[in-house]
This record gives sequence, C-alpha cells and structure tokens, in this order.
Amino acid sequence: MTSGSVPERARVFSGIQPTGETHLGNYLGALRNWVSLQDGNDAVYCVVDLHALTIPQDPGVVATGTINMARMLLAVGVDPDRSILFVQSHVREHNELAWLMQTVVSFGELSRMTQFKDKSDRSQFISAGLFAYPALQAADILLYDTAVVPVGDDQRQHLELARDAAIRFNFRYGDTLVVPAHHITKAGARIMDLQHPENKMSKSAESIQGTIGILDSPKEIEKKIKRAVTDNDGEVRFDPAEKPGVSNLLSILGAATDTDPKALAHDYSQYGPLKKDTAEALISLIEPVQTRYNNLADEDVLETLDQGADKAREIAESVMERVRDAVGLVPQNAGG
Ligand code: TRP
Repeated sequence: MTSGSVPERARVFSGIQPTGETHLGNYLGALRNWVSLQDGNDAVYCVVDLHALTIPQDPGVVATGTINMARMLLAVGVDPDRSILFVQSHVREHNELAWLMQTVVSFGELSRMTQFKDKSDRSQFISAGLFAYPALQAADILLYDTAVVPVGDDQRQHLELARDAAIRFNFRYGDTLVVPAHHITKAGARIMDLQHPENKMSKSAESIQGTIGILDSPKEIEKKIKRAVTDNDGEVRFDPAEKPGVSNLLSILGAATDTDPKALAHDYSQYGPLKKDTAEALISLIEPVQTRYNNLADEDVLETLDQGADKAREIAESVMERVRDAVGLVPQNAGG
C-alpha cells in the first residue's frame, strides 16, 4: 500500500470514535488533514459510534460524545456544504455490510490485528464486537466506493485488512467493491506527549499534563507547554531521536504556524522563548476553534447530522444493492 498523492477528485472516507476528548494530536495529525481534503474531493466523514460500543460504554456518554465529536468536527472546519458528515449508526447499511465483511475476513486475520491484541490484553470482557471491529471498519470504507482513507499509521493494519477484504470479495463474487488505494500518513504532523515525548499524544496518556485538549483554556495550554519536558543540554535543534521533547515543541510550533520545524530551530537559542512562542501560536490556532465549538447549538449539530445521513445513505444504498446482488441475496419486493 502506498502513501502518496490523492488522485483527481477522489472519494475520501474517514471515521473517528466519539469517545474521549479531542486533543492536539488528533487535530494536527488527522483532523486538519480531513479539512484540507475537502478541497477538490468528495469527502465523507463519519462519527463511528458503533465502533465505540466494542468496549462497554455508558449510554449517556455515547450520546453526548457523538454530538460533541460532530460539533468538534464542524468547529475545526469540516464543512457540510462541501462534504458529508454523519453518524455511523444512522446509516444501517454499515451493519449489513459489516456482517458480509465478517464472512470474507478470517479468524486468523482478525487474530493478528495488533489493536485487538492491545485492547483485549487490557480488557476483562473481550466482546465479539471488539474482535470483529476491523470488519465493521472495512464496511465503513467499502460502502462508499472509497479511494482514499486518511488515517494515522496506527490504522495501517486495519486499512490493509479492508483492502484484502475487498479483493477477496471481488474474487469470490466478481468485481463489486472498489479497493481503496491510498493511505495518507505523511500530511499530518506527529505530535508526541509533552511529558513522555517518546509516546504519541493520546487520549489514554498517563498524565493529562502531557496532552493538550482542544478545549483546554489558554492558561492550561500555557502551563502544559511551560512544563513540557526538554533536556539538559540547552541546545535548540530538531532531532527527534536525541532530543524528543524539544523536537516535539518545534513540531507543534511548526504545525501551528505552517513552518518547517527544522528551520524554526535556527530562530531559537533557548528553551524559554521556544515554549513561549509555541504556547502563543497554539492559543491563536485553537481559540477560533473553541469559539465555533461553543457557539454551535445541539439542534444545529443534529440537523446537520440528519442531512449528512440522508446523503450518505443514498450512496450506501446503491452500493449495498450491488453487493446483495453479487452475493446472491434474493431481492425484496421482486414478486409480481
Ligand atoms: N478505527 C479508527 C480509529 O480508531 C476509526 C474508524 C472506524 C475509521 N471506521 C473507519 C477510520 C473507517 C477510517 C475509515 O481511528
């Protein structure tokens, strides 16, 4: 599979789980990329609430998390006039295709998924859904004749499985599904934990001090950046292997200001000013997002999601018709 350029006007699909707070790593690594891919492509973005259920969840948390994730996507610039934004469970075809995908991926393949191994190691109750998670993800992607799936490197294995599922399906049943060709990882910045810069910034970080939430106040952002670990040698240089903390600050400042972090390093001889500028740049990047987020009413988010689901369903229904026919499911209402 290649990472690379996007073909002319491609169908783009990606999904994000509604659990946990959106942080800087999500935003700079993935969501900003979603926003720019809206230009010149047919982008479809999905809040994958069914995926969240693979781990036991409080129903209220799922509901508010879903609305708030959609609100966040709108706040960062997903534009419902230029792309489709919807909730996975609103388009029932995801479930239907997921079942068929479970019949073309094998027990062995699913057993080899590293995300399943990690999550099941950490869980007491390992649901069948957690095991089948990648089949649902394959369905998400294949339901829209997707060409391009912008995801981080941690999803590479799932995307490869989706490709294999499509290829196997087409081999069994004839050419039916579009095999997604692209996997984009390079475009987004890789943002690391501020306290443990050898780890990716993540929702499950050990210390919240290492993770900047998109809804953190300017004061909190300043404090977290100020306390970010650096090192003792005092030199500002972009060198992620030797100087992970300092390099992470340069990456963040670079991503926030659209500048090459290596070039930025030459502007600084001390950590203090680098931290100050990084915090300032972040605050001016995030503040407008927060304002949009806070001004979006639930009803408006829900209405946008309804309209998005209608548009998504139109595509999904036609692909599902093709799929049912290929598999040999007898059509309904075909009697005289
Ligand atoms: N598994 C993805 C993640 O955790 C979320 C996801 C679900 C997804 N379905 C998708 C991503 C389809 C891309 C395409 O990040």
